[in-house]
Amino acid sequence: LLLLCGVGTAVGTWVWTSNAVDTSGKVDFVNRLAVPPLAQSRIDDRGRRVFDLRAQPGRRDFGQGGPTDTWGFNGDYLGPTLRANRGEQVVVNVVNGIGEPTSVHWHGMHLPAAMDGGPHQMVRPGATWSPHWTVDQPAATLWYHPHPHGRTAEHVYRGMAGMFLLDDEPSAGLPLPRRYGVDDIPVIVQDRKFESDGRLDTDQGGIGGTGILGDTLLVNGTVGPYLDVSTERVRLRLLNGSNARTYDFGFADDRTFALVGTDGGLLERPHRTGRIRLSPGERAEIVVTVRPAERAVLRSYPPNQGLEFLGGRFTGGDDTFDVLELRAGNRLAPSPEVPDRLTPVERLDPATATETRRFRLNGREINGRKMDLDRIDFAVTRGATEIWEIEKQDATPHSFHVHDVQFQVLSVDGRQPPPELRGWKDTILVTGGEEIRIIARFADHADPNMPYMFHCHLLLHEDQGMMGQFVVVEPGQRAGRPPSGHGHA
Ligand code: C2O
Ligand code: CU
Repeated sequence: LLLLCGVGTAVGTWVWTSNAVDTSGKVDFVNRLAVPPLAQSRIDDRGRRVFDLRAQPGRRDFGQGGPTDTWGFNGDYLGPTLRANRGEQVVVNVVNGIGEPTSVHWHGMHLPAAMDGGPHQMVRPGATWSPHWTVDQPAATLWYHPHPHGRTAEHVYRGMAGMFLLDDEPSAGLPLPRRYGVDDIPVIVQDRKFESDGRLDTDQGGIGGTGILGDTLLVNGTVGPYLDVSTERVRLRLLNGSNARTYDFGFADDRTFALVGTDGGLLERPHRTGRIRLSPGERAEIVVTVRPAERAVLRSYPPNQGLEFLGGRFTGGDDTFDVLELRAGNRLAPSPEVPDRLTPVERLDPATATETRRFRLNGREINGRKMDLDRIDFAVTRGATEIWEIEKQDATPHSFHVHDVQFQVLSVDGRQPPPELRGWKDTILVTGGEEIRIIARFADHADPNMPYMFHCHLLLHEDQGMMGQFVVVEPGQRAGRPPSGHGHA
């Protein structure tokens, strides 16, 4: 770690400008897409669904010149897909087998702060942490990843992440593709930088201070992936699991697809579009239609953040990547049309908000402050609806993420949010000169002493302190004190 920190900035900058890399972004789709297995679970004597997750070191050959040392959950890279129903009680036994403290955060999950898996729920090497909660939110594509203070970027980069899918009755009744691994496919997109001997370059320095931007895309840990499609329609659950890179996904032939869900669940109605932009941490569920025997290539286009230096893999040039090839079979099983109405989304009413807060993002600070595990930045009253105004003051893009809640976007630069930002969100890209207003309700789970995080989801920024803490308190109660020692299990 010391070595990495010591040489990171200087050498890292030099390396990317001098590396000879293929900047065309083209890949041969030669590897079958790996689909993370669904996690096994059992029902305990209290009726709770119990999962086991073990963080562990591994080694995988990504075809990058030699084997790569990795970290994963229950395997060498990434982790199984957890799946639970609304209303279920879940328990996850998290065992730390990686030899250094880590934590596991349930990104997008509404749950008590003590179960959240942030930097106050560290798990010591060899220890087990068993958070439990009741799933109480709509069907959604959530995910999990480590959240150790100052070390999140490296832990995620080495491979620790996975999906957490939630189901509910209304969504189960919709004619959307729903057979996991058949026509309902997780697509975890991560850019990585490999040394010529296959080692991961974990130097988190890099261009523009965004953190590492890799030149090789992994999808579910697969380089150059293709997916055999056997149905007319396929649902892709896109997760930007990258440390810093924003993608603008679309198809090489510019076909449109139906955007049916965002971070926190299904949209009211499908949004037909040819592009969907995702910053680190964001998800989108899309339904794509294919014709027999065709090959449809999912690409990522330059995300057009108005920032030259982010335009390219390393130098500001072309930033297009081939992501995934869909290979349709000669005969496709019929899939129903995507329905016109998906799910009612209750609109949070700004008139009911009792507090408006402002978050100025600048450098590695939010409102002029860096993360302090011992400082609670503010307290939210249980049951309150609040408006948060997010304003970016520097030239770097940031991806604003809030724990505990799913929010709705009220406006972007004073205008109505575009259709892709009208559903439930927990993470949002903040680009040049924007002010984004969001609204959220903090329904329950008061605990004056245990904070939730809000932070930039560019993981280097988070590690460098672009994060703060809030607590949810009972009406009339004040914020307490965060646990000292930061809760090592
Ligand atoms: Cu996905 Cu606080 O993180
Ligand atoms: Cu940031």
